[in-house]
Amino acid sequence: MVRLAFTALLFAFATSLAAPARRAMVVHEQRELPAHFASAGVPSPDTPLTLKIALTANDRDGLEQRALDVSTPGNILYGQHLSFEEAKSFAAPPSARVSAVSAWLNENGVADITTSGAFGQWIGFTTTISTANALFDADFQNFTEVGGPTQLTRTLAYSIPADLQQHINLVYPTTDFVRKISGGPKFQSFKSVSKTARALAAPSSCNSTVTPACVMDLYGIPITPATEASNKLGVSGFSEQWPQTADLKSFLEEFRPDTSPSTTFTVIDIDAGEDPQSPSDAGSEANIDVQYSVGIATNVPVTFYSVGSDNPDGILGFEDIINDMLAEAAPPHVLTTSYLFDEDEFTPDLANQFCDNYMAAGARGVSILFASGDGGVAGTTDASCSFFIPTFPSTCPWVTSVGAVQSVPETGAYFSAGGYSNLFSRPSYQTTALANYLTITNLTTNATYEGKFSTTGRGFPDVAAQGFNLEIVNAGETILVGGTSCSSPIFTSVIALINDRLVAAGNSPLGFLNPFLYANPGSFFDITTGSNPGCDTDGFSAAVGWDPVTGLGTPNFESLLAAALAAAA
Ligand SMILES: *[C@@H]1O[C@H](CO)[C@@H](O)[C@H](O)[C@H]1NC(C)=O
Ligand SMILES: *[C@@H]1O[C@H](CO)[C@@H](O)[C@H](O)[C@H]1NC(C)=O
Ligand SMILES: *[C@@H]1O[C@H](CO)[C@@H](O)[C@H](O)[C@H]1NC(C)=O
Ligand SMILES: *[C@@H]1O[C@H](CO)[C@@H](O)[C@H](O)[C@H]1NC(C)=O
Repeated sequence: MVRLAFTALLFAFATSLAAPARRAMVVHEQRELPAHFASAGVPSPDTPLTLKIALTANDRDGLEQRALDVSTPGNILYGQHLSFEEAKSFAAPPSARVSAVSAWLNENGVADITTSGAFGQWIGFTTTISTANALFDADFQNFTEVGGPTQLTRTLAYSIPADLQQHINLVYPTTDFVRKISGGPKFQSFKSVSKTARALAAPSSCNSTVTPACVMDLYGIPITPATEASNKLGVSGFSEQWPQTADLKSFLEEFRPDTSPSTTFTVIDIDAGEDPQSPSDAGSEANIDVQYSVGIATNVPVTFYSVGSDNPDGILGFEDIINDMLAEAAPPHVLTTSYLFDEDEFTPDLANQFCDNYMAAGARGVSILFASGDGGVAGTTDASCSFFIPTFPSTCPWVTSVGAVQSVPETGAYFSAGGYSNLFSRPSYQTTALANYLTITNLTTNATYEGKFSTTGRGFPDVAAQGFNLEIVNAGETILVGGTSCSSPIFTSVIALINDRLVAAGNSPLGFLNPFLYANPGSFFDITTGSNPGCDTDGFSAAVGWDPVTGLGTPNFESLLAAALAAAA
């Protein structure tokens, strides 16, 4: 009803100014208010609002086909990743598209339009609440997270001109209700662990306390230093989590006495990100990510992307990292991220926008890895849930999602997030693996699970690695941490070392990993025990082959390297 009233008002206004005839509008996105948000008042009409419009790509489907071709072993284009200019020819909006949308904004009095994104795929402008409401038939209000810190200005529906529909993916921020970024280890314990000198052979204590020596022994990861300077490993940083060079030095002295303790990382600042160094600035998440990258991927150059708050709601920082990397002449070959969201906080359009950027990264030859999350089948929420809550970006079929295992012999960690997407359908590389799991577990005929997950969605995680009771150095203290935050940098280091060997032999890096990984299930240690309870259920159980707790399993370095060299040959 409110929206009808707005439309009527706008007509009166437009007519009195003899403005151009109003274009026919179509609803682009609409939703119900999520249960965990409440209305928090209507901003005054002149409150400033910065909006961004994502424009459709020149040839999105063409880019998807190329991204698959260059990533699928056996394809004639395997390993022939795109240059930035080649990727741009698919992903950029044609200039006529930019002009068409800008012309509509101009005729409604919106000037000062900026372009952003690696491919110029976003246009942005700052206006007022009243103009935004009129432009998009919207009803922007303030909303507040029930029992949480997130404050948002959003609308439950918006429209765009019918004649511009083919040019516009989405307008942001509008109908998404994404809470503050969730990251950080699942747990950390400040009980100091004993600092005995450690050799690199795995001690029996690996069953209870995990060090780099344990990880390298379990997965057969060599200590031989990498040789290729171009083969960089990227680490995402958000939420004012800053890795500390002093902590890294202590970590290397204690756990990698065979390497130089002065080995360090470089920092790229994005969105006014910072890099403060003092014990009070130590972030355990950032320290895990950097210590289990530098400490496992011996001599691989590590770049920490420090994302600051200069982006709307922090959410678009996820896009900004990729945009920055995509435009680098020599981007890292692999990026690990231990921050994530619940999938249901995204709208399908916003999730697709992010996912298409990961697809472009894959086409460029960059592997994108994400921690699957630490809430079992319940996503990032502690509240009770009637349906399983998948996490995002793990459900994007163009990322590699990493779950957690614990103990020796390895078993699925109880917190390892996994399940099936409600937004993205099962990609072809997963067809056999997912069908096998549903068959052997009889889940589709088990009443306990009926309606709780989508049997046709993209399954995650893809792979797993140790994620329970890992030792790190944080603010000068050795502490124990756990979560898939630990697993993602470990698996990423394995890929970085394989890329080093590939590049040294004159081959391309692996790029988008999943078609390669699912074609080589024998190169994993299959985890068949453990489960990820949540939502008042036992969750999923690990099983022979792929499962939604541990994916294909944990990495067997030598076997994966052999498979990678064979695929490149
Ligand atoms: C709505 O939110 C905006 C942005 O946070 C704030 O400036 C404004 O004061 C809020 N208005 C009301 C009525 O709460
Ligand atoms: C490893 O720890 C688990 C408990 O976390 C225990 O059940 C198991 O017996 C231990 N295994 C060994 C070999 O000590
Ligand atoms: C699935 O069903 C088959 C046939 O009824 C049965 O043999 C098998 O044990 C079941 N598997 C599980 C994991 O319950
Ligand atoms: C259904 O799943 C639950 C929980 O995993 C299990 O205990 C039960 O045996 C299953 N029922 C059947 C008929 O397989």
